[in-house]
Amino acid sequence: MEITCKSKFQSEITLRQGSLHIVGSFELIHKMNELKEKYGSNPVKWPELEKIKSADELLINEFILKCQSRFQLAYEHAELCHCRMVPAERVYDAIKQGCRTVNDIGRTTLAGTGCGSCRPDIEKLLKQFQFS
Ligand code: FES
Repeated sequence: MEITCKSKFQSEITLRQGSLHIVGSFELIHKMNELKEKYGSNPVKWPELEKIKSADELLINEFILKCQSRFQLAYEHAELCHCRMVPAERVYDAIKQGCRTVNDIGRTTLAGTGCGSCRPDIEKLLKQFQFS
């Protein structure tokens, strides 16, 4: 089994054959080591982070949820914006890059800049991954 989570900031967390590989900031590596010390080396047993405060924590949470087969975007179809043909994954990537409003998402991905009918769905994704 291999699970990989990446961000546009060159951060990457990979679980390969039971072994963790982390590339990224000091904060990312430190937080992952903290979780490992506290809950053991198997991320399947780690709790989901309750308060997301940074892009690194967003990535860690994605990793934990993927290890537990619980990661799911709050939008059921692959293509979120039909006018601009923007997949939900691309909108999520924009959130990981730091977009915090529907307009930010539009500037970065063009999603929501056509008819506007997908803007509530973009809002739903933003709420799912809102930093606390
Ligand atoms: S469906 Fe996204 S702008 Fe029209």
